[in-house]
Amino acid sequence: MVKLTLKMDNITKDVKPGTGLMAFCEEVGSSIAFGCGTGVCGVCLVQVVSGMENLSKPTEQESESLKMLGAKKGQRLACQITIQGPGEVVIDSID
Ligand code: FES
Repeated sequence: MVKLTLKMDNITKDVKPGTGLMAFCEEVGSSIAFGCGTGVCGVCLVQVVSGMENLSKPTEQESESLKMLGAKKGQRLACQITIQGPGEVVIDSID
């Protein structure tokens, strides 16, 4: 199991490797907003505080959107993230 924390929502839970962040957020009622769900609209931009190495790598679509959005280091599109582990992951809202 991977320890996942959504700092902005004060939620910490153990999740199975392979868990999609968007599905997890819907399940726990996270405040992260989602739109397209496909890495295009950019509304789900979040800050990965720690554990980036425990997440799926950005797809080509996500990388392109991050560039367009002027995303800073450590920022990802939540809808595109799969939690892989083995370490802990902490996610927060962008400033
Ligand atoms: S919901 Fe549109 S990019 Fe994530």
